Amino acid sequence: MQQPMLNIAVRAARAAGDIILRATDKAAHLQVEYKGKNDFATEIDRFAEREIISIIKAAYPEHGFLAEESGEHAGNEYVWVIDPLDGTTNFVHGFPQYAVSIALKVKGRLEVGVVYDPLRDELFTAKRGGGAMLNNRRLRVTNLTSMKGALIGTGFPFKVPQHLDAYMEMFKAVTIDSAGIRRAGSAALDLAYLAAGRLDAFWEIELKEWDMAAGILLLKEAGGVATDFSFNDGYLESGNVIAGSPRMHQLMYQLIEPHVTDALK
Ligand code: IPD
Ligand code: CA
Ligand code: CA
Repeated sequence: MQQPMLNIAVRAARAAGDIILRATDKAAHLQVEYKGKNDFATEIDRFAEREIISIIKAAYPEHGFLAEESGEHAGNEYVWVIDPLDGTTNFVHGFPQYAVSIALKVKGRLEVGVVYDPLRDELFTAKRGGGAMLNNRRLRVTNLTSMKGALIGTGFPFKVPQHLDAYMEMFKAVTIDSAGIRRAGSAALDLAYLAAGRLDAFWEIELKEWDMAAGILLLKEAGGVATDFSFNDGYLESGNVIAGSPRMHQLMYQLIEPHVTDALK
C-alpha cells in the first residue's frame, strides 16, 4: 500500500519540480500575491499545486487534501498534505533553496513523505517503518552528543512578530552553545537536511502543517525525534517544533524551554 502511494507522490513532486525549474529564470518577474503578513504566493505556487493534486487524484480519486494554496479538499481518511513550493521568498529572489513537500496522512498518522529539491535534483523520501532515503542512499541523523560543534537549523518568526522577544532569547541560548545557526528559508528542506545529518537539530515557531509533514516523517525514519515546546506531540497543530536525534533534541529542549512563553506552550 505504501510503495505505490510513495511512487505517486514522487511522480507528483517531480512534476511540480519541473514547473518550478522552468520558471526559475523568470521568478523575479512573477506577480507576487500578498496572502498575509510576510506571506506570499506566485502563479507558480498555484500551478505546481494544481499539478500535484491532479496527478494524485487521477490515481486516488477518493483521497482528501490539505494544500497550502487551495486549502482542504474533502475525501476519505487518506489525506495528502501539500506545500507545492516551500521557500517562495527564496524562489522569487533567485536564492537557490526551495522544495516541493508532499506527505500522506492516514487516520492522522504520517505514512509517506517526499521532499524534492528540483535545483539539486535531491529526492528525499520516507515510508513509515521503511526508513528515509536521499535518492538511493539511506539516511540517518547525526550521532553528535553535545552542542559543541553542532550546526542548528531554524526559521525566524517573521510572520508572528509577537513571538520575536521569546525567539531572540532562544536564539541567544543556542548561539552561545552551538557551532552555528542556519536560516536557509525552507522548513521542509531544513527537516530533510536534519534527517540527512547535514544539520544536528532544528527549531521554529508557528510553522504550518504543510511545511513540516513530509520532513517530520523523514526525520523520524532517520532515527530522529520531534516535540512541541511542552515536550508533547502537538507540533503539527501548534507549528512549534524542536527536532533532532534523541540526544540533540534533549539538549535543544533544555536551551529553549526556559524562554517558552505561555502563548507558545
Ligand atoms: C515558509 C518556509 C520558511 C518558514 C516559513 C514558511 P513558504 O514556507 O518554510 O522556512 O520559516 O514560516 O512559511 O511560505 O515559503 O511555503
Ligand atoms: Ca511552506
Ligand atoms: Ca509554500
